[in-house]
Amino acid sequence: MLYSTFFLSLLASAASAALTDSSLEKHVGSLALSSSFNPIKDAYWTGYPHHRRTPFAVSPDGKSAYLAYLDASETGVHVQQVDPSTFAAVGTATTVSGGKEAGGLVAHNDGFALLTNEALPSGTANAPAGSTPVPVMYRFTSGQQTWKTFLAGPGINADFGLAATPDINGDLAYSEAAGMYGAYFVITAYTGEAAGHFGDSIQYVNKEGKLQTIEGASSSWGCSHNTGIAFEAADSVPFASICAEDQGAIWLNTKTQSMNGVKISNENVTNGASNEAMGGMSGSYSGLARFIDSSAYIFTWVSRGAKDLTVNDWLGAPFTHAVNRTNNRNVAIAQFSDKNTLVGSEASATIGAADGDSQVNWITTGTADCSNAHVATFDKTNALVTWEEIANPTCDFISMGCKGAYTGSYFQLVNAGVKVGSPIKSTDTYVAGDMVTMSDGRICWPYVDMNWTLDGPVESPASVTKISFACVKIDGTAATTSTSAAPSSATADAISSSVVKPVSSTVQPASSPAQPTTTDSPVSTIPVTTSVPTSAPAPVEDTGSTLPSFELASSGAVPAPTLATSTVESSGQGFPRPTGTGGFGGFETKVRPTPTPLV
Ligand SMILES: *[C@@H]1O[C@H](CO)[C@@H](O)[C@H](O)[C@H]1NC(C)=O
Ligand SMILES: *[C@@H]1O[C@H](CO)[C@@H](O)[C@H](O)[C@H]1NC(C)=O
Ligand SMILES: *[C@@H]1O[C@H](CO)[C@@H](O)[C@H](O)[C@H]1NC(C)=O
Repeated sequence: MLYSTFFLSLLASAASAALTDSSLEKHVGSLALSSSFNPIKDAYWTGYPHHRRTPFAVSPDGKSAYLAYLDASETGVHVQQVDPSTFAAVGTATTVSGGKEAGGLVAHNDGFALLTNEALPSGTANAPAGSTPVPVMYRFTSGQQTWKTFLAGPGINADFGLAATPDINGDLAYSEAAGMYGAYFVITAYTGEAAGHFGDSIQYVNKEGKLQTIEGASSSWGCSHNTGIAFEAADSVPFASICAEDQGAIWLNTKTQSMNGVKISNENVTNGASNEAMGGMSGSYSGLARFIDSSAYIFTWVSRGAKDLTVNDWLGAPFTHAVNRTNNRNVAIAQFSDKNTLVGSEASATIGAADGDSQVNWITTGTADCSNAHVATFDKTNALVTWEEIANPTCDFISMGCKGAYTGSYFQLVNAGVKVGSPIKSTDTYVAGDMVTMSDGRICWPYVDMNWTLDGPVESPASVTKISFACVKIDGTAATTSTSAAPSSATADAISSSVVKPVSSTVQPASSPAQPTTTDSPVSTIPVTTSVPTSAPAPVEDTGSTLPSFELASSGAVPAPTLATSTVESSGQGFPRPTGTGGFGGFETKVRPTPTPLV
């Protein structure tokens, strides 16, 4: 998300020199937390480690920043003000007791707004069973709560059916021009036709905290089994939105709020998964960014590519299924000239086509597995795309994440959709919270200084009390770093002439990298090496036993993963499609039992 357009508009947006190691600045352990935080969240289905998101936001005047984090006890969300220069704490944290996820954060000049989820008080009429949390927004002004607004649960979208949100996995955005907050989040319906199914919802709340029902913008149900959300403000509703569903595609669905619209890509999917395209569990932030003083946007995701398009027999043509082209995931970008318009071609919907991904603008094309892709914008044309790699991945699961030794985070400058030079690499910095364009033009984000590992399922929770920040600056940004000398202009010129080679942006990935051979379930057998960077780790928790179960599609078209711990149940294939919303509304074909930490 971006703020501070006033300051940024003063900056040039010409093509920049490639990034160098000195473009990356770190503020290690700068923010002392008043409560502890578990920086690792196990992923849906695989249990592999993901960074637990710490939403980060800067106010429009550039003077105050905030970081939100879930307490390690998972009993509340803390919002800590942060100095945007030193990244140290300012004042004491505000605590929203009962919050279960730090799901999105907007900074204002006078406070902040938080998206979280919480269980309703026992005895609440029409509450979801089992204290399943419901999504809720809080607004704090000068340290005091000014309003609180539920976005689902009792009384909301009752005609369609009531919904809860065990995992938000979405985002909160705010537009001053529209005077509106938008939230896009995952839901599970607990009454009505969709009861028991997972989907997503988009809700708008005005400045006074009133939930709005806006025709053509608000959505009680959109993408089936939404497995990734990218959401960014626009000057009017609807905001720009993208969903990754488990039927076969990623859609720019600003206009439709559903799993149709502009088809950004074909993806190989399985029930509840699409390659963790937008980060999977604890992802769905900084995936879509608006260029400064522009109506254009850039989106990044990870994909295994797509080939051999077949008809999606549940949805019918032109909806497709695809086979993945690669074992690993590569990083891709798409650009939009406005919130409704893709630059370049849509993904193919030609049944029988061998090629389903020729339109993709790949940022990487190798055999390393890439994950945790995010993007933010420096100015009108320059963007920073980041991801993590496993050089030698083992990818046991269709459409899920991979495991293997973490071999680094990468930061790539992209100008007008074209890579500028090579990415810079870091093995001790990565992105674990929103990438924000600061008032001086740097892009900064939070992370936890720890030995990151992607070797296997999470075994024990970690616990930390410090957050670090990293920033990347490009030429023309006003930042000065005290620690690393900026290159002289002569050096910078030398670097740019020797390194900047605009790379062909449409290279296809190698078609068939070596496949892993194992089909065993790794969950019960893999020794785990999760870093625990503090001396006081939280108690060990058996995450293996809480892995959600999965079902086979009755058509047999979607193979169920082969987890030993899974329970395979018959599906609810044939669940009726809703009518009257300009197309199908995205009910999934397979029932997933609750409680399920579903993306
Ligand atoms: C996904 O790809 C696998 C091969 O890796 C294939 O067996 C499966 O049918 C594909 N899924 C869909 C929905 O087409
Ligand atoms: C598709 O992805 C799965 C999971 O990573 C992998 O096992 C399979 O080999 C991939 N297919 C191709 C053609 O690379
Ligand atoms: C990472 O591991 C090394 C070697 O075990 C250790 O010296 C270092 O302190 C660790 N770093 C962090 C941030 O935990």
